[in-house]
Amino acid sequence: MHRRLIAPGALAASLLLAIPASAADFSPGAPGIGDPYYPASGNGGYDVSHYDLRLKYQPKTDLLEGTATLNARTTQDLSRFNLDFGLKVSEVRVNGKKAKFAKTGDQELEITPPAGLPKDTPITVVVRYSGKPSELKINGYTAWHRTPDGGVAAQEPEAAVWWFPSNDHPLDKATYDVSVSVPDGTQAISNGVLQSQSSKLGWTRYNWRSNKPQASYLATLAVGKFDITTDKTESGLPVLNAYSKDLGDNAGAARASIERTTEVAEWLETLYGKYPFNALGGYVPNVKSSYALETQTRPFYSPSAFANGSNASIVVHELAHQWYGDSVSVDGWKDIWVNEGFARYSQWLWSEKEGEGTGQELADYVYAQHPADDPFWKVKPGDPGPDNQFHGAVYDRGALALQALRNEVGDDTFFAILKGWPQKHAYGNAKVSDFVKYAEKISGKPLAELFDTWLYQPSRPEAPAVREAGI
Ligand code: ARG
Ligand code: ZN
Repeated sequence: MHRRLIAPGALAASLLLAIPASAADFSPGAPGIGDPYYPASGNGGYDVSHYDLRLKYQPKTDLLEGTATLNARTTQDLSRFNLDFGLKVSEVRVNGKKAKFAKTGDQELEITPPAGLPKDTPITVVVRYSGKPSELKINGYTAWHRTPDGGVAAQEPEAAVWWFPSNDHPLDKATYDVSVSVPDGTQAISNGVLQSQSSKLGWTRYNWRSNKPQASYLATLAVGKFDITTDKTESGLPVLNAYSKDLGDNAGAARASIERTTEVAEWLETLYGKYPFNALGGYVPNVKSSYALETQTRPFYSPSAFANGSNASIVVHELAHQWYGDSVSVDGWKDIWVNEGFARYSQWLWSEKEGEGTGQELADYVYAQHPADDPFWKVKPGDPGPDNQFHGAVYDRGALALQALRNEVGDDTFFAILKGWPQKHAYGNAKVSDFVKYAEKISGKPLAELFDTWLYQPSRPEAPAVREAGI
Protein backbone atom coordinates (compact mmCIF):
# COMPACT_ATOMS: atom_id res chain seq x y z
CA MET A 1 0.00 0.00 0.00
CA HIS A 2 1.46 3.26 -1.02
CA ARG A 3 -0.59 6.25 -0.08
CA ARG A 4 1.20 8.79 -2.20
CA LEU A 5 1.16 6.96 -5.46
CA ILE A 6 -2.57 6.32 -5.68
CA ALA A 7 -3.28 4.80 -9.04
CA PRO A 8 -5.15 6.96 -11.56
CA GLY A 9 -8.88 6.42 -11.90
CA ALA A 10 -10.61 3.48 -13.47
CA LEU A 11 -11.03 5.42 -16.71
CA ALA A 12 -7.29 5.74 -17.23
CA ALA A 13 -6.85 2.07 -16.36
CA SER A 14 -9.42 0.93 -18.89
CA LEU A 15 -7.86 3.11 -21.58
CA LEU A 16 -4.52 1.47 -20.91
CA LEU A 17 -6.06 -1.94 -21.25
CA ALA A 18 -7.85 -1.01 -24.45
CA ILE A 19 -4.80 0.46 -26.17
CA PRO A 20 -1.76 -1.62 -25.24
CA ALA A 21 1.35 0.54 -25.11
CA SER A 22 4.13 -0.49 -27.44
CA ALA A 23 7.10 -2.24 -25.84
CA ALA A 24 9.15 0.91 -26.32
CA ASP A 25 6.99 2.75 -23.77
CA PHE A 26 7.85 0.29 -21.02
CA SER A 27 10.75 1.37 -18.88
CA PRO A 28 12.63 0.03 -15.84
CA GLY A 29 11.39 0.90 -12.38
CA ALA A 30 13.79 3.10 -10.42
CA PRO A 31 16.28 1.18 -8.21
CA GLY A 32 15.41 3.50 -5.28
CA ILE A 33 12.15 5.03 -4.05
CA GLY A 34 13.74 8.48 -3.89
CA ASP A 35 14.85 8.89 -0.27
CA PRO A 36 17.91 11.18 -0.22
CA TYR A 37 19.18 9.60 3.05
CA TYR A 38 19.20 6.09 1.55
CA PRO A 39 19.09 6.27 -2.26
CA ALA A 40 19.10 2.46 -2.66
CA SER A 41 16.16 1.90 -0.31
CA GLY A 42 12.89 0.92 -1.86
CA ASN A 43 12.19 0.90 -5.57
CA GLY A 44 9.98 2.57 -8.14
CA GLY A 45 7.30 1.28 -10.48
CA TYR A 46 5.15 -0.86 -8.23
CA ASP A 47 3.48 -0.98 -4.87
CA VAL A 48 3.29 -4.08 -2.65
CA SER A 49 0.06 -4.86 -0.77
CA HIS A 50 0.98 -8.20 0.82
CA TYR A 51 4.00 -10.38 1.62
CA ASP A 52 3.62 -14.11 2.10
CA LEU A 53 6.84 -15.64 3.43
CA ARG A 54 7.16 -19.40 3.75
CA LEU A 55 10.54 -20.15 5.28
CA LYS A 56 12.65 -22.76 7.02
CA TYR A 57 15.53 -21.93 9.36
CA GLN A 58 18.17 -24.24 10.78
CA PRO A 59 19.83 -22.65 13.85
CA LYS A 60 22.82 -25.03 13.70
CA THR A 61 23.95 -23.79 10.31
CA ASP A 62 22.19 -20.41 10.07
CA LEU A 63 20.62 -21.54 6.80
CA LEU A 64 17.43 -19.71 5.88
CA GLU A 65 15.53 -20.93 2.86
CA GLY A 66 12.11 -20.55 1.38
CA THR A 67 9.75 -18.67 -0.86
CA ALA A 68 8.46 -15.12 -0.78
CA THR A 69 5.27 -14.33 -2.65
CA LEU A 70 4.48 -10.65 -3.16
CA ASN A 71 1.12 -9.26 -4.24
CA ALA A 72 1.78 -5.91 -5.86
CA ARG A 73 0.41 -3.42 -8.35
CA THR A 74 2.34 -1.67 -11.06
CA THR A 75 2.45 2.13 -10.97
CA GLN A 76 4.04 2.54 -14.43
CA ASP A 77 4.52 0.54 -17.63
CA LEU A 78 7.37 -1.67 -16.43
CA SER A 79 10.00 -3.42 -18.53
CA ARG A 80 11.76 -4.57 -15.36
CA PHE A 81 11.85 -3.73 -11.66
CA ASN A 82 13.98 -4.17 -8.56
CA LEU A 83 13.44 -5.72 -5.17
CA ASP A 84 15.78 -5.04 -2.24
CA PHE A 85 17.40 -8.29 -1.16
CA GLY A 86 20.77 -9.78 -0.23
CA LEU A 87 20.48 -13.59 -0.05
CA LYS A 88 20.98 -16.00 -2.96
CA VAL A 89 18.03 -16.33 -5.30
CA SER A 90 17.39 -19.49 -7.33
CA GLU A 91 14.18 -18.65 -9.17
CA VAL A 92 11.85 -15.73 -9.80
CA ARG A 93 8.40 -15.92 -11.33
CA VAL A 94 6.21 -12.98 -12.26
CA ASN A 95 2.54 -13.82 -12.82
CA GLY A 96 3.50 -17.49 -12.96
CA LYS A 97 6.14 -17.09 -15.67
CA LYS A 98 9.86 -17.49 -15.11
CA ALA A 99 11.60 -14.14 -15.06
CA LYS A 100 15.27 -13.27 -15.57
CA PHE A 101 16.99 -11.92 -12.51
CA ALA A 102 20.36 -10.51 -11.54
CA LYS A 103 21.96 -9.28 -8.35
CA THR A 104 23.13 -5.73 -8.93
CA GLY A 105 25.09 -4.52 -5.91
CA ASP A 106 24.80 -5.86 -2.37
CA GLN A 107 21.10 -5.43 -1.97
CA GLU A 108 19.37 -5.05 -5.32
CA LEU A 109 17.63 -7.86 -7.17
CA GLU A 110 16.80 -6.81 -10.72
CA ILE A 111 13.88 -8.72 -12.22
CA THR A 112 13.02 -8.80 -15.92
CA PRO A 113 9.74 -10.54 -16.76
CA PRO A 114 9.36 -12.13 -20.20
CA ALA A 115 6.95 -9.35 -21.26
CA GLY A 116 6.39 -5.78 -20.10
CA LEU A 117 3.93 -5.20 -17.25
CA PRO A 118 1.28 -2.54 -18.00
CA LYS A 119 0.69 0.23 -15.51
CA ASP A 120 -1.93 -0.21 -12.80
CA THR A 121 -2.29 -3.97 -13.00
CA PRO A 122 -1.91 -6.51 -10.20
CA ILE A 123 1.23 -8.64 -10.31
CA THR A 124 2.36 -11.65 -8.30
CA VAL A 125 6.07 -12.14 -7.76
CA VAL A 126 7.46 -15.41 -6.39
CA VAL A 127 11.10 -15.48 -5.24
CA ARG A 128 12.81 -18.70 -4.12
CA TYR A 129 15.93 -18.19 -2.06
CA SER A 130 18.37 -19.51 0.48
CA GLY A 131 21.40 -18.26 2.37
CA LYS A 132 23.08 -17.60 5.67
CA PRO A 133 21.95 -14.14 6.79
CA SER A 134 24.93 -13.68 9.15
CA GLU A 135 27.27 -14.02 6.15
CA LEU A 136 25.57 -11.17 4.31
CA LYS A 137 27.65 -8.07 5.02
CA ILE A 138 26.72 -4.68 3.63
CA ASN A 139 29.53 -2.17 4.15
CA GLY A 140 30.96 -4.69 6.60
CA TYR A 141 27.75 -4.72 8.60
CA THR A 142 25.11 -7.36 9.28
CA ALA A 143 21.67 -6.57 10.72
CA TRP A 144 21.13 -10.27 11.47
CA HIS A 145 21.94 -11.25 15.06
CA ARG A 146 23.01 -14.86 15.26
CA THR A 147 22.39 -16.21 18.76
CA PRO A 148 23.53 -19.47 20.42
CA ASP A 149 20.12 -21.00 19.62
CA GLY A 150 18.94 -19.12 16.53
CA GLY A 151 18.90 -15.73 14.87
CA VAL A 152 17.05 -12.41 14.87
CA ALA A 153 16.20 -9.78 12.25
CA ALA A 154 15.41 -6.46 13.95
CA GLN A 155 17.13 -3.27 12.87
CA GLU A 156 16.35 0.23 11.63
CA PRO A 157 16.31 1.58 8.99
CA GLU A 158 17.07 -1.75 7.32
CA ALA A 159 16.61 -5.37 8.29
CA ALA A 160 14.50 -6.93 5.53
CA VAL A 161 17.33 -7.43 3.00
CA TRP A 162 18.79 -10.03 5.40
CA TRP A 163 15.72 -12.21 5.32
CA PHE A 164 13.17 -11.44 2.59
CA PRO A 165 12.93 -9.56 -0.72
CA SER A 166 10.93 -6.35 -0.43
CA ASN A 167 10.27 -2.81 -1.48
CA ASP A 168 12.31 -1.75 1.50
CA HIS A 169 11.00 1.67 2.48
CA PRO A 170 8.26 2.83 4.89
CA LEU A 171 6.43 4.50 1.97
CA ASP A 172 5.34 1.09 0.73
CA LYS A 173 3.56 -0.64 3.59
CA ALA A 174 1.87 -4.02 3.27
CA THR A 175 0.26 -6.80 5.28
CA TYR A 176 2.27 -9.92 6.16
CA ASP A 177 1.86 -13.67 6.56
CA VAL A 178 5.10 -15.10 7.91
CA SER A 179 5.31 -18.88 8.17
CA VAL A 180 8.56 -20.31 9.53
CA SER A 181 9.55 -23.90 10.13
CA VAL A 182 12.19 -24.58 12.79
CA PRO A 183 13.46 -27.74 14.54
CA ASP A 184 11.06 -29.09 17.21
CA GLY A 185 11.76 -27.47 20.57
CA THR A 186 12.71 -24.15 18.94
CA GLN A 187 10.27 -21.28 18.37
CA ALA A 188 9.88 -18.77 15.55
CA ILE A 189 8.50 -15.38 16.61
CA SER A 190 7.18 -12.71 14.24
CA ASN A 191 4.62 -9.91 14.08
CA GLY A 192 0.90 -10.03 14.79
CA VAL A 193 -1.21 -13.04 15.66
CA LEU A 194 0.07 -16.62 15.87
CA GLN A 195 -2.60 -18.19 13.67
CA SER A 196 -1.43 -21.75 14.23
CA GLN A 197 1.54 -23.99 14.82
CA SER A 198 2.06 -27.62 13.93
CA SER A 199 4.79 -30.18 14.07
CA LYS A 200 5.78 -32.75 11.45
CA LEU A 201 8.93 -34.78 10.71
CA GLY A 202 10.89 -33.10 13.50
CA TRP A 203 10.07 -29.54 12.42
CA THR A 204 7.54 -27.11 13.89
CA ARG A 205 5.93 -24.50 11.66
CA TYR A 206 4.69 -21.21 13.12
CA ASN A 207 2.18 -19.18 11.12
CA TRP A 208 2.03 -15.45 11.94
CA ARG A 209 -0.26 -12.78 10.51
CA SER A 210 0.11 -9.01 10.71
CA ASN A 211 -3.05 -7.70 9.09
CA LYS A 212 -2.53 -3.94 9.08
CA PRO A 213 -0.13 -1.98 6.85
CA GLN A 214 3.42 -2.57 8.09
CA ALA A 215 6.70 -1.03 6.97
CA SER A 216 9.35 -3.55 5.89
CA TYR A 217 11.81 -2.60 8.67
CA LEU A 218 9.10 -3.33 11.23
CA ALA A 219 8.75 -6.94 10.09
CA THR A 220 10.72 -9.16 12.44
CA LEU A 221 11.82 -12.76 12.75
CA ALA A 222 13.36 -14.33 15.84
CA VAL A 223 14.24 -17.99 16.06
CA GLY A 224 15.42 -19.49 19.32
CA LYS A 225 14.38 -21.21 22.51
CA PHE A 226 11.87 -18.99 24.25
CA ASP A 227 9.57 -19.07 27.26
CA ILE A 228 6.25 -17.76 25.97
CA THR A 229 3.45 -16.11 27.91
CA THR A 230 0.02 -15.49 26.38
CA ASP A 231 -3.01 -13.52 27.44
CA LYS A 232 -5.88 -11.47 26.04
CA THR A 233 -6.63 -7.81 26.59
CA GLU A 234 -10.05 -6.79 27.88
CA SER A 235 -10.97 -5.85 24.33
CA GLY A 236 -9.94 -9.34 23.17
CA LEU A 237 -6.58 -8.75 21.48
CA PRO A 238 -4.07 -11.57 21.89
CA VAL A 239 -0.95 -10.72 23.89
CA LEU A 240 2.15 -12.87 23.36
CA ASN A 241 5.53 -12.25 24.93
CA ALA A 242 8.65 -14.33 24.33
CA TYR A 243 11.73 -14.48 26.53
CA SER A 244 14.88 -16.30 25.55
CA LYS A 245 15.47 -19.19 27.95
CA ASP A 246 18.99 -17.84 28.23
CA LEU A 247 18.50 -14.38 29.77
CA GLY A 248 20.35 -15.28 32.95
CA ASP A 249 20.04 -12.64 35.66
CA ASN A 250 18.06 -10.31 33.41
CA ALA A 251 15.08 -12.67 33.10
CA GLY A 252 13.15 -11.36 36.11
CA ALA A 253 13.49 -7.69 35.24
CA ALA A 254 12.64 -8.37 31.59
CA ARG A 255 9.40 -10.05 32.63
CA ALA A 256 8.60 -7.44 35.27
CA SER A 257 8.75 -4.85 32.48
CA ILE A 258 7.29 -6.54 29.41
CA GLU A 259 4.42 -8.23 31.27
CA ARG A 260 3.15 -4.65 31.77
CA THR A 261 2.61 -4.25 28.03
CA THR A 262 -1.21 -4.37 28.30
CA GLU A 263 -1.25 -1.81 31.13
CA VAL A 264 1.11 0.53 29.24
CA ALA A 265 -0.87 0.20 26.01
CA GLU A 266 -4.12 1.02 27.85
CA TRP A 267 -2.53 4.15 29.27
CA LEU A 268 -1.23 5.13 25.82
CA GLU A 269 -4.76 4.67 24.44
CA THR A 270 -5.93 7.44 26.76
CA LEU A 271 -3.30 9.71 25.17
CA TYR A 272 -3.23 8.62 21.51
CA GLY A 273 -6.54 6.86 20.84
CA LYS A 274 -7.34 3.24 20.08
CA TYR A 275 -4.41 0.81 19.74
CA PRO A 276 -3.95 0.41 15.98
CA PHE A 277 -3.04 -3.29 15.53
CA ASN A 278 -4.32 -6.86 15.95
CA ALA A 279 -1.96 -8.10 18.67
CA LEU A 280 0.36 -6.98 21.45
CA GLY A 281 3.55 -8.24 22.97
CA GLY A 282 7.30 -8.07 23.10
CA TYR A 283 10.28 -10.38 22.81
CA VAL A 284 13.75 -10.60 24.28
CA PRO A 285 16.17 -12.79 22.37
CA ASN A 286 19.61 -13.65 23.67
CA VAL A 287 21.43 -10.90 21.75
CA LYS A 288 24.37 -8.72 22.76
CA SER A 289 23.04 -5.49 21.24
CA SER A 290 21.89 -2.59 23.38
CA TYR A 291 18.92 -1.15 21.51
CA ALA A 292 15.23 -1.87 21.30
CA LEU A 293 13.02 -1.61 18.24
CA GLU A 294 9.30 -0.99 17.73
CA THR A 295 8.78 -4.06 15.50
CA GLN A 296 5.08 -3.87 14.75
CA THR A 297 2.78 -5.34 17.42
CA ARG A 298 5.76 -7.04 19.09
CA PRO A 299 8.77 -4.86 19.96
CA PHE A 300 12.27 -6.27 20.16
CA TYR A 301 14.13 -5.67 23.44
CA SER A 302 17.80 -6.37 24.10
CA PRO A 303 18.48 -8.13 27.43
CA SER A 304 20.84 -5.28 28.39
CA ALA A 305 17.80 -2.98 28.69
CA PHE A 306 16.99 -4.87 31.90
CA ALA A 307 20.49 -5.11 33.38
CA ASN A 308 19.72 -2.58 36.12
CA GLY A 309 16.28 -3.87 36.97
CA SER A 310 12.85 -3.35 35.50
CA ASN A 311 12.47 -0.81 32.73
CA ALA A 312 8.84 0.05 32.06
CA SER A 313 10.03 3.24 30.39
CA ILE A 314 11.51 1.34 27.43
CA VAL A 315 8.21 -0.52 27.07
CA VAL A 316 6.47 2.88 26.99
CA HIS A 317 8.90 4.03 24.29
CA GLU A 318 8.43 1.03 22.00
CA LEU A 319 4.65 0.92 22.51
CA ALA A 320 4.30 4.66 21.85
CA HIS A 321 5.96 3.92 18.50
CA GLN A 322 3.01 1.68 17.60
CA TRP A 323 1.11 4.94 17.05
CA TYR A 324 4.05 7.25 16.35
CA GLY A 325 6.23 5.38 13.86
CA ASP A 326 4.32 2.22 12.99
CA SER A 327 0.75 3.35 12.27
CA VAL A 328 1.93 6.83 11.26
CA SER A 329 5.27 6.22 9.54
CA VAL A 330 7.95 8.54 8.29
CA ASP A 331 7.49 9.79 4.76
CA GLY A 332 11.26 9.85 4.31
CA TRP A 333 13.98 8.94 6.80
CA LYS A 334 14.74 12.59 7.43
CA ASP A 335 11.36 12.71 9.22
CA ILE A 336 12.65 10.46 12.01
CA TRP A 337 11.63 13.06 14.63
CA VAL A 338 7.96 12.20 14.06
CA ASN A 339 8.93 8.80 15.53
CA GLU A 340 11.62 9.38 18.11
CA GLY A 341 10.68 12.80 19.49
CA PHE A 342 7.24 11.47 20.41
CA ALA A 343 8.38 8.10 21.72
CA ARG A 344 10.82 9.90 24.03
CA TYR A 345 8.21 12.45 25.10
CA SER A 346 5.86 9.54 25.90
CA GLN A 347 8.51 8.34 28.37
CA TRP A 348 8.47 11.80 29.95
CA LEU A 349 4.68 11.62 30.25
CA TRP A 350 4.97 8.21 31.91
CA SER A 351 7.49 9.67 34.35
CA GLU A 352 5.06 12.53 35.02
CA LYS A 353 2.27 10.05 35.73
CA GLU A 354 4.51 7.93 37.97
CA GLY A 355 5.59 10.97 39.97
CA GLU A 356 9.21 10.66 38.83
CA GLY A 357 9.50 14.10 37.22
CA THR A 358 7.21 16.17 35.00
CA GLY A 359 7.78 16.91 31.33
CA GLN A 360 8.94 20.38 32.31
CA GLU A 361 11.34 19.09 34.94
CA LEU A 362 12.83 16.60 32.52
CA ALA A 363 13.09 19.28 29.83
CA ASP A 364 14.95 21.57 32.24
CA TYR A 365 17.22 18.72 33.23
CA VAL A 366 18.07 17.74 29.64
CA TYR A 367 18.62 21.39 28.66
CA ALA A 368 21.01 21.93 31.56
CA GLN A 369 22.86 18.70 30.80
CA HIS A 370 23.97 20.06 27.43
CA PRO A 371 25.95 23.32 27.61
CA ALA A 372 25.81 25.64 24.60
CA ASP A 373 29.07 24.30 23.14
CA ASP A 374 27.92 20.66 23.35
CA PRO A 375 27.88 19.16 19.81
CA PHE A 376 24.44 17.84 20.83
CA TRP A 377 23.05 21.20 19.66
CA LYS A 378 24.60 20.84 16.20
CA VAL A 379 22.24 17.98 15.38
CA LYS A 380 19.01 19.17 13.80
CA PRO A 381 16.24 16.77 14.89
CA GLY A 382 14.09 17.91 11.93
CA ASP A 383 16.77 16.84 9.41
CA PRO A 384 19.61 15.10 11.27
CA GLY A 385 21.28 13.44 8.26
CA PRO A 386 21.67 9.66 7.92
CA ASP A 387 24.71 9.51 10.22
CA ASN A 388 22.83 11.14 13.09
CA GLN A 389 19.45 9.58 12.49
CA PHE A 390 19.48 7.95 15.94
CA HIS A 391 21.60 10.58 17.73
CA GLY A 392 20.47 11.36 21.26
CA ALA A 393 19.49 14.85 20.09
CA VAL A 394 16.77 13.45 17.81
CA TYR A 395 15.26 11.92 20.95
CA ASP A 396 15.99 14.46 23.69
CA ARG A 397 16.07 17.72 21.77
CA GLY A 398 13.14 16.25 19.87
CA ALA A 399 11.24 15.89 23.15
CA LEU A 400 12.32 19.42 24.18
CA ALA A 401 10.56 20.65 21.05
CA LEU A 402 7.36 19.01 22.27
CA GLN A 403 7.72 20.53 25.73
CA ALA A 404 8.15 23.92 24.02
CA LEU A 405 4.96 23.26 22.06
CA ARG A 406 3.13 22.25 25.24
CA ASN A 407 4.17 25.49 26.94
CA GLU A 408 3.14 27.53 23.93
CA VAL A 409 -0.34 26.07 23.34
CA GLY A 410 -1.29 24.84 26.82
CA ASP A 411 -2.10 21.33 28.00
CA ASP A 412 -5.60 20.97 26.56
CA THR A 413 -4.56 21.87 23.03
CA PHE A 414 -1.26 19.99 23.30
CA PHE A 415 -2.94 16.72 24.26
CA ALA A 416 -5.62 17.23 21.60
CA ILE A 417 -2.82 17.50 19.01
CA LEU A 418 -1.08 14.38 20.31
CA LYS A 419 -4.32 12.41 20.13
CA GLY A 420 -5.55 13.78 16.81
CA TRP A 421 -2.38 13.23 14.79
CA PRO A 422 -2.31 9.40 14.90
CA GLN A 423 -5.97 9.35 13.87
CA LYS A 424 -5.44 11.77 11.00
CA HIS A 425 -2.54 9.79 9.50
CA ALA A 426 -3.43 6.27 10.71
CA TYR A 427 -1.68 3.55 8.66
CA GLY A 428 -0.06 6.22 6.48
CA ASN A 429 3.05 8.35 6.23
CA ALA A 430 3.77 11.88 7.34
CA LYS A 431 6.47 14.52 7.32
CA VAL A 432 7.77 16.85 10.03
CA SER A 433 6.23 19.74 8.09
CA ASP A 434 2.84 17.97 8.17
CA PHE A 435 3.03 17.92 11.97
CA VAL A 436 3.90 21.61 12.15
CA LYS A 437 0.91 22.43 9.95
CA TYR A 438 -1.36 20.18 11.99
CA ALA A 439 -0.28 21.74 15.30
CA GLU A 440 -0.91 25.20 13.82
CA LYS A 441 -4.35 24.18 12.65
CA ILE A 442 -5.45 22.68 15.96
CA SER A 443 -3.97 25.45 18.11
CA GLY A 444 -4.80 28.33 15.78
CA LYS A 445 -1.31 29.71 16.49
CA PRO A 446 1.61 30.32 14.16
CA LEU A 447 4.27 27.80 15.23
CA ALA A 448 6.81 27.84 12.39
CA GLU A 449 9.31 29.82 14.44
CA LEU A 450 9.03 27.60 17.51
CA PHE A 451 9.65 24.46 15.46
CA ASP A 452 12.42 26.14 13.49
CA THR A 453 14.15 27.00 16.76
CA TRP A 454 13.86 23.53 18.27
CA LEU A 455 14.15 21.30 15.22
CA TYR A 456 16.27 23.11 12.65
CA GLN A 457 18.79 25.48 14.24
CA PRO A 458 22.30 24.00 14.62
CA SER A 459 22.79 25.70 17.97
CA ARG A 460 21.31 25.78 21.46
CA PRO A 461 18.12 27.84 21.40
CA GLU A 462 18.65 31.05 23.35
CA ALA A 463 15.58 30.68 25.46
CA PRO A 464 15.05 27.57 27.50
CA ALA A 465 12.02 25.42 26.70
CA VAL A 466 9.99 27.18 29.38
CA ARG A 467 8.45 30.21 27.77
CA GLU A 468 5.90 30.69 30.45
CA ALA A 469 7.58 29.47 33.58
CA GLY A 470 5.57 28.96 36.72
CA ILE A 471 4.05 25.52 36.49
N1 ARG B 1 13.66 3.09 16.85
C1 ARG B 1 14.60 2.45 17.73
C2 ARG B 1 14.24 2.97 19.11
O1 ARG B 1 14.41 4.12 19.40
C3 ARG B 1 16.03 2.79 17.38
C4 ARG B 1 16.85 1.72 16.79
C5 ARG B 1 18.17 2.27 16.34
N2 ARG B 1 19.10 1.27 15.97
C6 ARG B 1 20.27 1.09 16.60
N3 ARG B 1 21.04 0.13 16.23
N4 ARG B 1 20.65 1.89 17.55
O2 ARG B 1 13.64 2.31 19.87
ZN1 ZN C 1 12.45 4.93 19.34
